[in-house]
Amino acid sequence: MRLDRILSNSGCGTRSQIRDLIRAGAVSVDGRVINDPSLHITADQFESIIFRGSRLFYSQFIYLCLNKPDACLTALQDSRLPTVRQYIPENLCGKGISPVGRLDYHTTGVLLLTNDGELNHRLTSPKYHIPKSYTIGYSGPPIDQSDVDCFAEGFVLSDRPGEETSLAPAKLIPIDDQHCVLTIIEGRTHQVKRMLAAIGRPVQTLHRNEFGGIVLPPTQMPGDIRDLSSEEIQSLRTSCGIHYDPGGNNKDLSQNETDLV
Ligand code: URA
Repeated sequence: MRLDRILSNSGCGTRSQIRDLIRAGAVSVDGRVINDPSLHITADQFESIIFRGSRLFYSQFIYLCLNKPDACLTALQDSRLPTVRQYIPENLCGKGISPVGRLDYHTTGVLLLTNDGELNHRLTSPKYHIPKSYTIGYSGPPIDQSDVDCFAEGFVLSDRPGEETSLAPAKLIPIDDQHCVLTIIEGRTHQVKRMLAAIGRPVQTLHRNEFGGIVLPPTQMPGDIRDLSSEEIQSLRTSCGIHYDPGGNNKDLSQNETDLV
């Protein structure tokens, strides 16, 4: 793993602060001062990292699932509005955790947070086709078969001047005359609202039921946050081609299938 990522996962500062500190000589590995933030550190070198004169305590990655309540920002700080930061246990703050993608201010439901930067990146990349499922309350005429077919085929969003966005096929299931469930495999900005607006059904309420197979147990109320189980973490990693070894290295399965265990 890159040296700057290890330090940011361990709560040593922001990526840019860390890069500056590394360049200024604040970090040594195996007794040697390292000035290159991108240096790859192997599992057996972790214990030899010295950060500002002290041995680095490398925390294991943290994986959390929040049932995001209404009326809070998917951000860790904001000068005006409440953020999801208030739901993260104090002892886990400052460990480089960040939300995996974004939910809008009024969107509720599954929000993952982690300090595993590689997994975060892949879960939000369109390349890995991670499914996200939403229950939608909408206004306008009831959704009909032509809407279902249109979403199933994939269509081009042209709601922004000079921008055409080709959407991957999505699964739309009507529930009643004002509600439906939509599963998408991309995560474009305001994608669900834009897709529903494109078929003339403005979104009134939006709740994410699932992200990459992670769902909310019935006991997890809005504002409740929980650790993902090791099975859930493993399943997320597998979905985006990562094998994690206990030394802290993420390996890319798509590069080397023989690393599978
Ligand atoms: N799509 C949206 O439009 N909003 C969200 O919060 C999530 C997906």
